[in-house]
Amino acid sequence: MGVLGAVAILAVCLSLSWAIQINGKLAKGKRDCDFYHGEWRYDESYPLYDSAKCNFIENQFNCLKNDRPDRSYLKYMWQPSFCNLPRYSYNATFMLYRSGFLVDIKDTKLGRVLDLGSIEGGKSWRNVDTLIFNTWHWWLHTGRKQRWDFIQHGSKMYKDMDRLVAFEKALTTWAKWVDSNVDTTKTKVVFQGISPDHSNASDWGKPNEKGCVNQNQPFVGHDYPAGQHPAEVVLERVLEQMKTPVYLLNVTRLSQLRIDGHPSYYGGYHRIADCSHWCLAGVPDTWNQLLYATLFQS
Ligand SMILES: *[C@@H]1O[C@H](CO)[C@@H](O)[C@H](O)[C@H]1NC(C)=O
Ligand SMILES: *[C@@H]1O[C@H](CO)[C@@H](O)[C@H](O)[C@H]1NC(C)=O
Ligand SMILES: *[C@@H]1O[C@H](CO)[C@@H](O)[C@H](O)[C@H]1NC(C)=O
Repeated sequence: MGVLGAVAILAVCLSLSWAIQINGKLAKGKRDCDFYHGEWRYDESYPLYDSAKCNFIENQFNCLKNDRPDRSYLKYMWQPSFCNLPRYSYNATFMLYRSGFLVDIKDTKLGRVLDLGSIEGGKSWRNVDTLIFNTWHWWLHTGRKQRWDFIQHGSKMYKDMDRLVAFEKALTTWAKWVDSNVDTTKTKVVFQGISPDHSNASDWGKPNEKGCVNQNQPFVGHDYPAGQHPAEVVLERVLEQMKTPVYLLNVTRLSQLRIDGHPSYYGGYHRIADCSHWCLAGVPDTWNQLLYATLFQS
């Protein structure tokens, strides 16, 4: 399994920020192909590995092991319109750093405070060749799944806040950290784009369906009815204002098309349909192929 296994582990951590150290140099060649313009194509040779035999895959994402009855969700390959994606063949060292919000959660007398202006975690992100960031998934959590009790912005404390607004403030803190701490002669910065969920089937024009439940084929067509994801709009706005060039792994739209890619009732917790994480093998493997192509294709 080698690198593929290591990379698949990273794939499951879609809600986390992570850092990557690569024993080699970034390919500086000009990319003349837009990897993100393409389509999901049924491919008999897929999946690329048997998830039932991969120890790295958490039960929650192992839809095959959890008896998902349909199989075609395993067989879609992302085919860019004007080139092919390379397969993996690289020896790299990965370091995973968990920080769901990029900014810090602090234990205080009041309780757990999500401080939108504090990014102490950054101390662990120095001296790597390539930094790959990601956040969003955890921003929408409420109730029992919510990891904080209050949000702090500046000197003000809030019980809650519009989550997109909080997300933008945190991203801005992150952007300032990158702009003042990353030496671009040594470190490349990649942001892995927003992973969309499929909890609301109105997003793809099927208001009477139960989110991703029973979806067994990708959305047909190039234009996803809901359009650009609101968090993607925020992310692009923040990236545009940065001094440091950050490569956006622009996986949101191609993932939006994969209404069939989630565990639904086959994530091990049968009572609740999971329409936000992804089955493995599946869509996150494609993100990793795109990452690989981005870093190493010259
Ligand atoms: C990968 O690189 C490490 C460190 O340079 C080395 O010890 C290991 O044998 C390499 N593995 C493969 C499969 O080439
Ligand atoms: C689902 O999406 C539709 C249109 O995009 C929206 O009007 C509706 O409020 C959403 N439903 C929920 C439960 O969020
Ligand atoms: C990312 O993809 C979306 C949808 O295809 C597109 O609108 C947007 O311009 C892309 N962003 C970048 C930075 O290339």
